[in-house]
Amino acid sequence: MASLHRCLVTLALLFLNLLPMAALLVCAHGAAGTEAESRISSVFVFGDSIVDPGNNNNNPLTEARANFPPYGQDFPGGKATGRFSNGKVPGDMIASKLGIKEMLPPYIGDELQISDLLTGVVFASGGSGYDPLTSIPAAAISSTGQLELFLDYKERLKALVGEKEMERVISEGIYFTFMGSNDILNNYFLYPLRRHQYDLPSYVKFLVSSAVNFTMKLNGMGAKRIGFMGIPPLGCLPSQRELGSRECEPLRNQAAELFNSEITKEIHRLNVEQTVPGSKFAYFDIYYNLLDLIQRPDFYGFKEVAEGCCGSTPLDAAIFIKYHPACPNVQDYIFWDSFHPSQKAYNNFIDKLHQQNMQELM
Ligand SMILES: *[C@@H]1O[C@H](CO)[C@@H](O)[C@H](O)[C@H]1NC(C)=O
Repeated sequence: MASLHRCLVTLALLFLNLLPMAALLVCAHGAAGTEAESRISSVFVFGDSIVDPGNNNNNPLTEARANFPPYGQDFPGGKATGRFSNGKVPGDMIASKLGIKEMLPPYIGDELQISDLLTGVVFASGGSGYDPLTSIPAAAISSTGQLELFLDYKERLKALVGEKEMERVISEGIYFTFMGSNDILNNYFLYPLRRHQYDLPSYVKFLVSSAVNFTMKLNGMGAKRIGFMGIPPLGCLPSQRELGSRECEPLRNQAAELFNSEITKEIHRLNVEQTVPGSKFAYFDIYYNLLDLIQRPDFYGFKEVAEGCCGSTPLDAAIFIKYHPACPNVQDYIFWDSFHPSQKAYNNFIDKLHQQNMQELM
């Protein structure tokens, strides 16, 4: 019933948009997956600013904040919540597609209800990465710090609902991790230390090992369905395109591709090894799905692929654009600021990722 209801709601919304054929296809396609998906009752997200819904809001030391205009102009109520986009971010969209809730809140802050604790929260922090050094200059919550928050969450939930119910929520939940961009963009290319220690392929190898260790720790803490998001085509972010030509910067794209191809093999290995029996791991390909938007903007209804709606230099993001005006026509833009996609772009590729890979976690 729940899935039929969701399908009808989808239909109604799409009919309003005058896209009846698309609506029929969505329902036909979604039908196979919805039953298993409707048994998922909680979502947890770890990562960086792609998915942080406001965990950095009360941290005055970090520049990676977005709880002021123009951020959030298209969020319900036009509210700047700390999400690094004009509207919702991937965690919200995943929770919504699974029929759990419309917004996935930050774990840090005092607005959480018990129902939020039962249905999932986000531990991500803008500026974070798999490499512990990445979070230090950004004053972000490191990947290890995010796992500590998860342990804190488990204790809090246990105190509220008892151990048995806590264990159920944790083992039946679905988990996503979105990190790695700051490791490559900031820690490797911007700051000198890691570049002195590693060449690019060996740094990527180190990152893959860090990412696998993170995933194994999370698995050991009770997470059994883990969706692993790859690294986006970093060289195509407005802030990284080469000055003058505005072409995608090839070295950053190669680093992302190398990480993604290595981690895909590791995910396969984790699935075979089953260190914790009954675990499922899936790789979600952000790289080619975002690149597809950039290469075929007309197909997806975009006009601007290289500039951000709030600007395109490395300083056109986070606290550096506090109260700056945004462009008037954000629906034309793939990128909202110089690092982060717009809500429309997120919607597009999260929709595709959901169709491509979600079943692997069911
Ligand atoms: C990951 O864990 C393994 C096994 O404990 C360890 O040997 C390796 O150094 C770790 N990798 C990183 C990058 O910390």
